[in-house]
Amino acid sequence: TGMFTYDPGFMSTASCQSAITYIDGDKGELLYRGYPIEQLATQCDFLETCYLLLNGELPNETQKTEFVSRVTHHTMVNEQMQFFLRGFRRDAHPMAVMTGLVGALSAFYHDSTDINNPEHREISAIRLIAKMPTLVAMAYKYSAGQPYMYPKNKLSYTANFMQMMFATPCEDYEPDDVLVRAMDRIFILHADHEQNASTSTVRLCGSSGTNPFAAIAAGVACLWGPAHGGANEAALNMLEDIQRNGGIDKIGDFIKQAKDKNSGVKLMGFGHRVYKNYDPRAKLMQETCREVLGHLGVENDPILKLAQALEKIALEDEYFVSRKLYPNVDFYSGIVQRAIGIPVSLFTAIFALARTVGWIAQLNEMIGDPEYKIGRPRQLFTGSARRDVQPLAQR
Ligand code: CMC
Repeated sequence: TGMFTYDPGFMSTASCQSAITYIDGDKGELLYRGYPIEQLATQCDFLETCYLLLNGELPNETQKTEFVSRVTHHTMVNEQMQFFLRGFRRDAHPMAVMTGLVGALSAFYHDSTDINNPEHREISAIRLIAKMPTLVAMAYKYSAGQPYMYPKNKLSYTANFMQMMFATPCEDYEPDDVLVRAMDRIFILHADHEQNASTSTVRLCGSSGTNPFAAIAAGVACLWGPAHGGANEAALNMLEDIQRNGGIDKIGDFIKQAKDKNSGVKLMGFGHRVYKNYDPRAKLMQETCREVLGHLGVENDPILKLAQALEKIALEDEYFVSRKLYPNVDFYSGIVQRAIGIPVSLFTAIFALARTVGWIAQLNEMIGDPEYKIGRPRQLFTGSARRDVQPLAQR
């Protein structure tokens, strides 16, 4: 058994070499291909960020126009997709629906099934980036009992997503620049985060040579958990729960519970495996939160006030200070999304939409690596030694 390094939770094992995303957890720094997240979030849009993650460089004007036009031409999904949706209960969790729908895409594109073929991966990437907003909006419309809205290609990527979410056949959606920009920023902040659980899942899944859409569906499935992408939904539910039970006055009681390991309660949207400092995405998210609530005239939103009070108390508490637990991206993103009108149960599906490009970039990098092999962790065996089966009557 001395042959393998035992490292539960991969606390100190690098599973790959990567040139995509850099995190300095002590400084609280995040770079995509060398560019600080703060600059990308304020100076670029999501599709430029996608191009950067996929190609290693920001696009020039011609490259951007070409990329946007390619993505835009793939925004529709096969009409058959509606029948997949119909198989779900209307109250199904959107992440259950998304896991199914993204997996189902693998049944539609017989021209691009070979994950080891760069051209197959390239067209799958464009299709996935283009269709994720359509699928997320369809999952929402289905749950709301409303007709699906087709994509409108004259709109930007993010305005089109909002249109598919909020327009109805009776009423057009007038894109609101501040809200579209906020949603676009949410996409940028979630686009990649190196070897997190869902990305490692996509790499491992893809390493078997599976269908490209199937590998991404595995990522969606992993992201769902509350320790990972599901934390945005869990964080907002937690805030609403505290609010219902007495609000700011109850923070002390809640913190006490979150510090008690036997309570089963955690401060959701706090803590991170890599950041031992403020998550830079949480800082940007908090700014966006103020902008959006101000724009909507709800700057006194009690949930934001509660979140800020909770953060302040936690950051002064010895338990959180000594463990270097800071707010992560999920702490404020829910408040922004809720203000925009996104239902809480859809938050993680929007995270999946945005992370899709990161998953693809990481998959491409893995397959392009000359040292790429199927992922196959080893184990330290702790079970029974060899023994013989006894006849049934003697067991
Ligand atoms: N509330 C209370 N205690 C916590 C929390 C929290 N949110 N997070 C960590 N701790 C404690 C933990 O109990 C442990 O204490 P001790 O050393 O006494 O045993 C210590 O802090 C270290 O935590 P860990 O669980 O060993 O750290 P990890 O790297 O394994 O887990 C984490 C990281 C993000 C899963 C965890 O912090 C957590 O569950 N946070 C809440 C869920 C969350 O917000 N997840 C979102 C992550 S960011 C983006 C994303 O993926 O969506």
